[in-house]
Formats: sequence, C-alpha cells, structure tokens
Amino acid sequence: MTQPIRIAVLISGSGSNLQAIINHQKLHSELYTIVQVISNKPNAFGLERAQKAGIKHQVIDHTQFSNRETFDAALQNVLDKSMVDLVVLAGFMRILTEGFTRHFLGRMLNIHPSLLPKYTGLNTHQRAIEAGDSEHGLSVHFVTPELDEGPAILQAKVCIEIDDNVESLQNKVHLQEHLAYPLVIQWFAEGRLTFQNGQAWFDQKPLKCPLLLNDF
Ligand code: GRF
Repeated sequence: MTQPIRIAVLISGSGSNLQAIINHQKLHSELYTIVQVISNKPNAFGLERAQKAGIKHQVIDHTQFSNRETFDAALQNVLDKSMVDLVVLAGFMRILTEGFTRHFLGRMLNIHPSLLPKYTGLNTHQRAIEAGDSEHGLSVHFVTPELDEGPAILQAKVCIEIDDNVESLQNKVHLQEHLAYPLVIQWFAEGRLTFQNGQAWFDQKPLKCPLLLNDF
C-alpha cells in the first residue's frame, strides 16, 4: 500500500478552509497527512485550529524579513525540510516570488474567492456585487508565477441574490470552499489530478475548462 502524501497548509487568518481540510483528512488518513501548518501572521486563528488538531504549526513572520526573496527562501527551506508533496495555500495573503512558485510548480494549490478569470486580487465579493453579477463563486487552481492565474481545476458557483451584501455572499462562498478544497486535495492525493505542460489534468485528460463542484 502506498504512503499518504505529505501536505503543508499555509494560512494568514481564520483558517476555516484549514479546518475543512483537517476534518476531511480524518476521514481519509490513508490518502494524505497534514504534516505542517505555517502562518505568516502570529495571531492567525488557524494556528489554534492546528494546535487543537495536534498538527505541527509554526509562524514565519514576514515582517521579520527585509524583502520578499528572503522570506520566501525561509519558507521554502522549512517546506523542503518537511519533504512536503503538496503545498496548500488556504487564505495565505502573500504574493509569492517567481522562484518560489517555480520551485513548487505542479505541487502547490490555491483557493480564490471568485470565478476566475474574473476578479483576481482582493475584494472579490464587493466587486462582483458592484458589477451587478448574478453569480459568483470560487476557484481552486494550481499556482503559477502569475497572481491567481494558474490553471483552474474546480469551481463552485453561488447565486447573488438581490439582498446579498459582502458578508452574506462571503458566507455562501465559504460554505462551498469547504467542500471544494478538500475534494481537490483528495484528487491530487489519489493521483487523479496532475499538472503537465502548464495544464491541469484530471483522470488522464487535460482540463479544457474547470470542473464544477455541482457535478460531483
Ligand atoms: C477564503 O475565502 C479563500 O478563498 C481566500 O481567503 C479566504 C480564507 O478564509 N483565499 P479562511 O482563512 O480559510 O477562513
């Protein structure tokens, strides 16, 4: 029997996605192990979640580094020492250097709260409401050097109702995120999801467009 893959989860805040992954991992411990949680913010609530779950966790505070390159080098060093197979960005609010993203190319995932390619960057819920969009959602994608532009793997949509505000929309998206992210990690651990020649592949086929959560 093959060993579970080793994953590290990087956070900056609440860590509700981390919690969803922890809960899912308990049911699928044969597939993957969360070997480490790293936060760039000392007060991130996700650190408490990791502690409660008995997962090794540590702070690498970006304010203690003189530039992006030295911070990323320290982060890479820790991840390499832990021999991680997959790096999972879960609300990790740092732009990563090209060198770092290339080092983990094909083995780093991100979750972004919009239907990419719409609304890369911040304030996605507000921007979707202001644009008068009827639907919004999330994307899980492989990380490439371009911000929020790596190949999308899975998306989930939510409807923007007339009485939605940023908070209510964020809550709806979060609920879907908690289903989507563990599923994508599971696929990666099962070997169903790979990254080849700059594309996401699922079940031996390149994904021409992202999968939809509602189909699973
Ligand atoms: C999520 O909405 C995710 O899409 C974005 O940051 C948020 C993190 O939330 N990248 P949490 O810390 O997992 O609760």
